[in-house]
Amino acid sequence: MKLAIIGSGYVGLTTGTCFAEVGHEVICVDNNEHKVAALRAGKIPIYEPGLEEMIVRNVANGRLKFTTSIKEGVDNALVVFIAVPTPPQPDGSVDLSFVEKVAREIAGVITDYRVVVDKSTVPVKTGEKVRQTISRYNSGGVEFDVVSNPEFLREGSAVADLMKPDRVVVGADTEKAGNIMKELYTPFGAPILVTDLNSAELIKHAANSFLALKISYINAISRICEASGANVEMVAQGMGADHRIGRAFLNAGIGYGGSCFPKDLSAFIRISEDLGYDFGLLKEVSRINDDQREHFVKQIRDSLWVFREKRVGLLGLAFKGNTDDVRNSVAMDLAQIFLKEGAHVIAYDPQGAEKAKEIEPRLEIVSRGEDVAEKADVIVVATEWKEFRDLDWASMRKRALSNLLFDGRNLLDPAKVAALGFEYHSIGRR
Ligand code: UDX
Repeated sequence: MKLAIIGSGYVGLTTGTCFAEVGHEVICVDNNEHKVAALRAGKIPIYEPGLEEMIVRNVANGRLKFTTSIKEGVDNALVVFIAVPTPPQPDGSVDLSFVEKVAREIAGVITDYRVVVDKSTVPVKTGEKVRQTISRYNSGGVEFDVVSNPEFLREGSAVADLMKPDRVVVGADTEKAGNIMKELYTPFGAPILVTDLNSAELIKHAANSFLALKISYINAISRICEASGANVEMVAQGMGADHRIGRAFLNAGIGYGGSCFPKDLSAFIRISEDLGYDFGLLKEVSRINDDQREHFVKQIRDSLWVFREKRVGLLGLAFKGNTDDVRNSVAMDLAQIFLKEGAHVIAYDPQGAEKAKEIEPRLEIVSRGEDVAEKADVIVVATEWKEFRDLDWASMRKRALSNLLFDGRNLLDPAKVAALGFEYHSIGRR
């Protein structure tokens, strides 16, 4: 099948590439000429395991193309995906101006039946607006359908998530569009749930908010564990063994970050408000998330006694492991809090350091994890990179000035680091 993906950001690029990988003919459209030129030359603007090889392979076999022209994309596709950014506005609502602009642009070039699919995360009822906009701006009265097909990929495992999804959600109000979407996704072998347009849009916000809720729930439990001497990992294991609950997303820590959960939660609170419902539960989820970070900083401050002129060795800058994305990263927030309090921050991240330094030039970046320990007054683990477990912790203990080690992601084995002489603090466990 022939597809166009408008917007070659994180979601658009990975989605387009995976569609090409299963045999579809894909044109990725982006209005950034430099990006398109780089992609044509096999240069990938993001770090995502497995993506680069897949792009190079599919460009070589002719199934994946890049262009700056929406017209070229729409002319050569039956299904046109909208995968442009939907950034948050200061009041928490979603800025839909890119989606609206693309809808107008599609209206200007569409000459025959197309399925226009919204991939971007949007408030419920956005599809209706897209449909209205295309109808209004298209002079020829062309037949088209608007479909919602929310994306559930996680950064760092985007390719695997796309190639083997738990489910594919398709919100289509006509049978014709639903059938085209089913055919498109058949090669992935995943269950396809076809709903109406509004329900599909709601599923995305409802699912992400629920996952954030799970994280805040276990983080609240971690505080009870700290106060009572229980171990949050054992509690999570016991809870998670009930298949109705599940163990995933019950890892206690310093809270969730990234460009989805914080944004989607604020948006969903706002959307609910606009629909006349006060979603107090989600406000509390967000409050617990912020509080985890403050609680962690307070513990470090209490142990250090004075932050000023201290050297903090920070492991991790990305918002989670396996990604170079530092946007809305709790680790970055911590770095900025330490700097504001007058400390010097020596940081290491396997992928995110370069982007972090652009945002926060005061960071001293080192190229090996062990080097953050050099004359450190405290070592802080802020991102769940598994490789931090394999650092030479014995030599780090020798290089650090003090024995303080704070693990915000429960990554290390308490007994092992304690045996090396560290005073070890983690989340909800001793
Ligand atoms: C999320 C959703 O998982 C995905 O379905 C959606 O499409 C986009 O948003 P992503 O933001 O890439 O994906 O990362 P995810 O792996 O979900 O982690 C989000 C944050 O939660 C990270 O900061 C991570 O550190 C934190 N987290 C995750 C926890 O603190 N504990 C957990 O148990 C799981």
